Amino acid sequence: MRQGFKEMDNFKHRNDCRICGGSDFFKILDLGEMPPANAFLKKEDLDKPELKFPLVLYFCRKCGLVQLLDIVNPKVLFGGQYDYLTSASKPLVEHFREMAGELVRKFVESQDDLALEIGGNDGTLLHEMKNRCRVLNIDPAVNMTELSQKRGVPSISRFFSSETAEEILKEYGMAKVIVANNVTAHIDDIKDVFKGVEALLSDDGVFVFEAHWVGNLIGDGGFDQIYHEHLSYYSLTALKYLIGQFGLKIFDVELVPVHGESLRVYVGKNREVGSEVGNFLTREKEMGLDKEAAYADFSEKVLKNKKDAVGLLSDIKKNGKKIIGYGAPAKGNTLLNYFGITGETLDFITDTTPTKQGLYTPGSHIPVYPPEKLFEAKPDYLLLLAWNYADAIIKKEAGFREKGGKFIIPVPEVKIV
Ligand code: TMP
Ligand code: ZN
Repeated sequence: MRQGFKEMDNFKHRNDCRICGGSDFFKILDLGEMPPANAFLKKEDLDKPELKFPLVLYFCRKCGLVQLLDIVNPKVLFGGQYDYLTSASKPLVEHFREMAGELVRKFVESQDDLALEIGGNDGTLLHEMKNRCRVLNIDPAVNMTELSQKRGVPSISRFFSSETAEEILKEYGMAKVIVANNVTAHIDDIKDVFKGVEALLSDDGVFVFEAHWVGNLIGDGGFDQIYHEHLSYYSLTALKYLIGQFGLKIFDVELVPVHGESLRVYVGKNREVGSEVGNFLTREKEMGLDKEAAYADFSEKVLKNKKDAVGLLSDIKKNGKKIIGYGAPAKGNTLLNYFGITGETLDFITDTTPTKQGLYTPGSHIPVYPPEKLFEAKPDYLLLLAWNYADAIIKKEAGFREKGGKFIIPVPEVKIV
């Protein structure tokens, strides 16, 4: 049994907060029932019924964690084939290369040190560290650990838990560096992960993780970052509550430009706490991230976002124009399904990820093609589903705009550029 799931259950609902155990929640937003955002379909499966699960966002009044309480079995979400390939996103590869350099510079002292990554995907980050220390990637997706292994990064295909940590400890010893980027939000039993980190981390070690910041979600970000894989939407405030339950301390924090804005949190055992931690907690308090009113405002904003975007797309189609989707990120599927966008609005979507090409979007059933198809179709508008890379993409596709083409940025307020 993994993360409390019986093998056969696809889904469960919990009634208590995964950080503090509280049960006093404010319901922020109900996005309806949807298939998992990465459940792209093969052509022959289009007529079969899809698994759909509630997507509802809550705020815990006790510890401040924003979270989903409807949990899809990780086996359904991540087991076997996982389509998210880090190396397909150039900006992300660059980001992780820089991060790897920083980790080596600041924390790696000897070739014998162990750097371990939880959910290391195709080995993009550890590949950059492997000549400087021992590395180990723990990722549940078999297709990803195979890729990672091929790049020379020793990899184990498993979910990380306190149990996994004990086994790693026996075989590899303590870790100097533990990294977990964009995975802490995906794990229901996050307390068990921190228990594992506490056991594995050496006394002078550092646990560094990046997770999408809830202040960005309700601010400049988009509601489409809400999907079943993302169970938690962290504030530093809630993380402090979580981490304080272990022999661990947050000693530094910064915002990094990933998925809009993500927290990069530095955790250790005996390190001196920098002033940035207190400053950031104050900033969150000033933003009201610890109170439900800020989330009620967010909910209003999302309803308006939907109304405006659906209206705009429908006007464009009435004028006989062609719209194509740019990028098929997971979040795009929350957006397409919540807005009710189908093949009647978008002829197709292009994406650079080879494993997505030739498949159809879950729920909305729009075909995904390689980027080469984009301009053959002579679109008038490109709906920027991968909006977090807006600057890079608009620069890359300058020729399209020079010829009169326009981009639609769908969130947090729909706009044409
Ligand atoms: P992400 O926001 O989850 O990183 O996903 C971005 C998706 O967009 C990913 O599937 C790759 C795709 N993409 C493109 O198709 N073209 C691009 O130029 C970029 C930057 C991303
Ligand atoms: Zn809580």
